[in-house]
Amino acid sequence: MGDTSFGGPWTQKKLRILRLYLNAYTTALKKQPFRLIYLDAFAGEGSWRPGSAYASTDYDDFRKLHTGSPRIALGIQDRPFDRLIFIEKDPQRYESLKKLRSEFSHRDIMIYNKDANDALPIFCDTLRTLDRSVVFLDPFATEVSWTIVERLAQTQKVDCWILFPLGAIARMMPTANEPPPQLASQLDRIFGGREHWWILYEQSSRLSIFGDEPGRERPKGSSNQIAHQYRERLESVFVKVAPSGREFRNAKNSPMFQLFFAASNPKGAKIAVDIAKHIIDKW
Ligand SMILES: C[S@@+](CC[C@H](N)C(=O)[O-])C[C@H]1O[C@@H](n2cnc3c(N)ncnc32)[C@H](O)[C@@H]1O
Repeated sequence: MGDTSFGGPWTQKKLRILRLYLNAYTTALKKQPFRLIYLDAFAGEGSWRPGSAYASTDYDDFRKLHTGSPRIALGIQDRPFDRLIFIEKDPQRYESLKKLRSEFSHRDIMIYNKDANDALPIFCDTLRTLDRSVVFLDPFATEVSWTIVERLAQTQKVDCWILFPLGAIARMMPTANEPPPQLASQLDRIFGGREHWWILYEQSSRLSIFGDEPGRERPKGSSNQIAHQYRERLESVFVKVAPSGREFRNAKNSPMFQLFFAASNPKGAKIAVDIAKHIIDKW
């Protein structure tokens, strides 16, 4: 098995939310004629061990191998998923997923050693009328491009949990001046266009010593506006988005991630978001 260590206490909370949702979602659709598909686009290898960022005081917890999202989805029992798709870019982790598939040889499991940004559009194209899917986008950082989020929304068949890397994005958006060109193009890719993050910058109140146009700055402490802006982007393409995301902070109490939920099926979106909202608020 490769290096399974990453994450922190927030990882367990995030996965508990996923487990509760998958249980509720599959049970809600139990009597429906749908083929239920779980897609894990950043699948890892099935299990994980808390990494160096983990601040647990429980040393045993630190050493323990925890159940990762692929195993969580495989463990849904009341109404099991008909098909499970795991996408993982790292070759070693992909090898571990192959072993997981052998362990669950009676299940319909497809695994791909690909970049999620390339594999997801293909998945969207293959969805059939009676397919319904939960897609989990659980990257380490800023790997999710807006084009795939938009593509998932267009299917009208997918409910999506998206781990938005708020801390990493706040670091890409300096407060004293505009992001340099390389970071600006990364932000374009994540938000799906410059205008969608540029509005978080305002004209600087500082006077330019050379008398030219003052630059732009992002108000300090406005990182929750970044998350708010991304949620608005989700609302612009999905039928319904849970009103608030679940925020995860690091040991220094800085925001690291915001877990969003968005539903794309016009008929199912309300109930899906009601379930997700209840879980986000309670857990
Ligand atoms: C946070 S981990 C996922 C953990 C997993 N959800 C779990 O609960 O065990 C992120 C995973 O995404 C993989 N990854 C990173 N970039 C990727 C990409 N562009 N496409 C697919 N997988 C990627 C990493 O190798 C890593 O295994």
